[in-house]
Amino acid sequence: MQFETEPSISDKLRRRFLNSKRVLVLTGAGVSAESGVPTFRGGGNSAVWKGMPFEVISSAQVVEQDLPAVWEWFDYRRDLLQVLNPNPAHNEIATWQDRFSEFTLVTQNIDGLHHKAGSREVIELHGSLWRVRCVSCYARFEILSSRPRADACPDCGDPVRPDVVLFGEILPAGAFEQAAAAAANCELCFVIGTSGLVYPAAGLPEIAHVAGAFVCEVNPEKTPLSALCDELLMGRAGEVLPLLSRLGSDSRTTTGRVATRTS
Ligand code: OAD
Repeated sequence: MQFETEPSISDKLRRRFLNSKRVLVLTGAGVSAESGVPTFRGGGNSAVWKGMPFEVISSAQVVEQDLPAVWEWFDYRRDLLQVLNPNPAHNEIATWQDRFSEFTLVTQNIDGLHHKAGSREVIELHGSLWRVRCVSCYARFEILSSRPRADACPDCGDPVRPDVVLFGEILPAGAFEQAAAAAANCELCFVIGTSGLVYPAAGLPEIAHVAGAFVCEVNPEKTPLSALCDELLMGRAGEVLPLLSRLGSDSRTTTGRVATRTS
């Protein structure tokens, strides 16, 4: 997709960005696309694993029937991720935790790249590829890339599974509630790199919108959430987000390679 060079960030967004104290960011697979992580709905190598679509191999049912196959798939994904690095979008978002006095980062991604970029507190709605959880006692453990992951729970000895939310499973206790409370309380909400198709995550921008926040979407394509957004920054997150940090030092409207629409 081509993006025209034109004034990209509206005065309204600029004012909100410079003056807001309470900011919420929701990210999806698109924020990691420029790091080389395939998105779910944009095609890519990991959408199918040994003939099984990702929603089948990543399902609660397969965990019950064939845990080793699930591990094989998640170990494969972790191996791919191990060598990937955060991109300018992750880095930019990481700086926002010190810019805004109440900043909440919510991600649907399980790749850990926000943490790798330096984001300290991340609400991981769909869990993390870098954690395991005991199937019996629910104890959680980090996976250290330097050693083989554990097969059994060090506390009770039962098998461990990836600590990710699979199709047919519910979100980690409290995670969505915490994100929803921040959405209801924020002044500015960014929706970055998500197709907006998977709920309840996709409901967060709507909560923010209904509560009166200014909602800005960053995505090369329109999504079902675009209609409720106050501003669309149509472009790649790694190119668009760094434009925002320049707003602090430049009082003029920023120019960049993105198309905008304001309401
Ligand atoms: P999707 O793969 O559904 O959507 C990715 C979005 O990122 C699309 O809207 C793309 O247009 C956009 N995009 C692509 N490249 C981009 C870039 N460089 N910058 C910004 N945006 C870009 O991914 P999600 O919305 O995250 O859940 O998917 C939501 C959930 O569906 C996932 O967390 C996963 C999946 O089922 C579970 O596994 C539980």
